[in-house]
Amino acid sequence: MKAKLSVNKNNIIDKIDRRIYGSFIEHLGRAVYEGIYEPTNENSDDMGFRRDVIELTRELNVPVVRYPGGNFVSGYNWEDGIGPKSERPRKLDLAWLSVETNEVGIDEFQEWAKRAGTDVMMAVNLGTRGPDEARSLIEYCNSTTDTYYANLRRKHGFDKPFGIKLWCLGNEMDGDWQICHKTAEEYGRTATETAKVLKWVDPSIELVACGSSDAGMPTFGSWERTVLDHTYDYVDYLSLHCYFGNREGDTANFLARVEQMDKFIKTTADICDEVKAKKNSQKTVNLSFDEWNVWYRTKDEEKTAERWQTAPHLLEEKYNFEDALLVGGMLMSLQNNCDRVKIGCIAQLVNVIAPIMTEKNGDAWKQTIFYPYMYASLYGNGETLKASLEGGSYKSKEGWDVPYLYSSVVNNEERGEVIVFALNRSLFDDMELDVSLNGFEGYALSKHIELYSDDLNTQNDKDNENISPIEREIESGEKITLKKHSWNMLVYKK
Ligand code: AHR
Repeated sequence: MKAKLSVNKNNIIDKIDRRIYGSFIEHLGRAVYEGIYEPTNENSDDMGFRRDVIELTRELNVPVVRYPGGNFVSGYNWEDGIGPKSERPRKLDLAWLSVETNEVGIDEFQEWAKRAGTDVMMAVNLGTRGPDEARSLIEYCNSTTDTYYANLRRKHGFDKPFGIKLWCLGNEMDGDWQICHKTAEEYGRTATETAKVLKWVDPSIELVACGSSDAGMPTFGSWERTVLDHTYDYVDYLSLHCYFGNREGDTANFLARVEQMDKFIKTTADICDEVKAKKNSQKTVNLSFDEWNVWYRTKDEEKTAERWQTAPHLLEEKYNFEDALLVGGMLMSLQNNCDRVKIGCIAQLVNVIAPIMTEKNGDAWKQTIFYPYMYASLYGNGETLKASLEGGSYKSKEGWDVPYLYSSVVNNEERGEVIVFALNRSLFDDMELDVSLNGFEGYALSKHIELYSDDLNTQNDKDNENISPIEREIESGEKITLKKHSWNMLVYKK
C-alpha cells in the first residue's frame, strides 16, 4: 500500500501549547498512595515521594498535572489535607467508595510537582462545596497578604505562595455519577460566581469551566451552550473528557476513534464560537481536553470492589499494543487541533489508567502507552502544519471514511527539525510513505522511531518491556515503510 503526505511550511495550524502534554493525578486507588507517595519504599525521598516515579514523570516531560480529581474533588475538603499529618482526618471518599487518609494534600502535592518538574492544575470542589471554600483555597495557595489563609500556609512552613496558575471549576458536573451533580443552569451560575471570587483573589490565574464528560452524553451541546451563556466572560477554557474502549474486539473501528476525537473538538470549539457570536464578544474561549485515554476494562470496578479500603487496586488498566496505537493517534489529534486545544491531560499518570505503574515496596515500570506519550511530549513542540494526505481508506462501523494513515506534522524551528507522527491503521498491509516537505530546503530524514508488535494484545509487565520503541538512523534516499498497525515518528533535520 502507498500513501503520500505533503505539507507547506507556511500552512500553519498554530503553535502548540506545551500544556497539551499534561497529565492527571486523582486521589483514587493507588495513584497517590503507593503511586507518587510511599514512605516505606526504600527508594523514596525525604518527603516519602517515590524517586522512580519522579524520574519517569521527568522522562515524560509532563508540563502540568491536574489535581486532586476527578470525581474525588466533588466531595473533597481541601483543609483536611494541610498542616500536621497527625491531625489530618480519615474520611470516606464517596466517589470511589474508599477511605482517604489525607496524608497527602496540596502542601505535599505542590512540592511533588516541583520535584517532578511540572506545574499544578488545581480543581475546586463545586459538588458539596462552592465559592466560599474555593476563595479560601486560592488565598491559601496564592496570596501574599497578611490574612488568615495566607498566614495558615506560612504557619505550615510555606512562606512563598504556591503560585498555581490554572484552576478547574469543578469536575464533570454534567454526570449524574458526580457527587452533587448539577443541571447546566445550576452549574453555570455557581461556576460564574466561583470564577469571580477566584479571579478577585488572584487576577493572574486562568480558569476552566466544565464541558461535557463525553460526546455521547445526552446533554452534549445544550450543556455547553447554557454553561457558556453564564460563564463566557469569566472563564478562559471549556473542558472536554473522553475515554475510548474496544469491548467488541474490533481494532479497525477502535483505531478510527481518533476521527471521533477530532469531531468532538471541532464541535465543541464551534459551540464556543456560537456563544461568542451571540454575545458579540471579542474574547475566544479555548479548550482544555483535561481527561482522555483508553479506559474500558476496569470501568465501574469500584462498584464491585470491597468498600472502604485505603489505596485499593482500582482502575489498574493493563494496556496492550493496540491501546498504545490509539493513544498515539489521540496525541496527534491534540496536535492537529492545537489552534483550539491549549491544555490536555492524559488520565491518569500513575497506577490508575496510567502510563506508569508501581509495585508496592518494589519498582516502577512503563505501560505500552508510555512511549507514544513520551515522544509526543519530547518532540511535538513548535507549530503544527496542515498536512494533505493521499492513500487508501476503510469504513468505520458508523460509515465514516477512515484513511489508513493518520498523522500530524510539527515544525520545530528552534531545533531545525520537522517531526512527522504517523499511524498506519491497516491491519494487514505495510505502507510505503512518500513525504513531501515544501519550503524545507536542506531538510533530510535522519531518524525513524517505530512502535510495533505483530500481536496487538502484547502487554508490558513489571519484568518485561515487550513494547518499546525501535530507533533507526536513516541512510540518505532510503524509502520509508510504515509497518501494518504501527505507530511511527520520523525526524527530518536541517
Ligand atoms: O479518571 C477517572 C474518572 O473519570 C475521573 O475521576 C472522572 O472525572 C472521570 O469520569
